[in-house]
Amino acid sequence: MVSAMLLCDLVQGRESPYGEVFSPSRSILHPQLAANGMEAVVNLLTPASRRCPHMGCALKWNAQEHTWDCPCHGSRFTEDGQLLDNPAAGDLNFGAKE
Ligand code: FES
Repeated sequence: MVSAMLLCDLVQGRESPYGEVFSPSRSILHPQLAANGMEAVVNLLTPASRRCPHMGCALKWNAQEHTWDCPCHGSRFTEDGQLLDNPAAGDLNFGAKE
């Protein structure tokens, strides 16, 4: 639908509100992208006892909700490692009981 609206505006010579977002010459280099990339690298390199099964980021304990949360892409797990939210596709594997 957005494509149809954008093409309609372009054909009629009008400026489209979607033009900047979908322009083929738009830049993907945004400050937020750099900040997100830096946070992902830091979380991948952080020593941690719990790692996300999605891409290996260090999980953070959420004391309010008693969940393990992944700061990289948002996966969440129960206290005993069961998957609550994607994109991880499976439970945590804590290995042998500590
Ligand atoms: S690395 Fe945890 S959700 Fe992607």
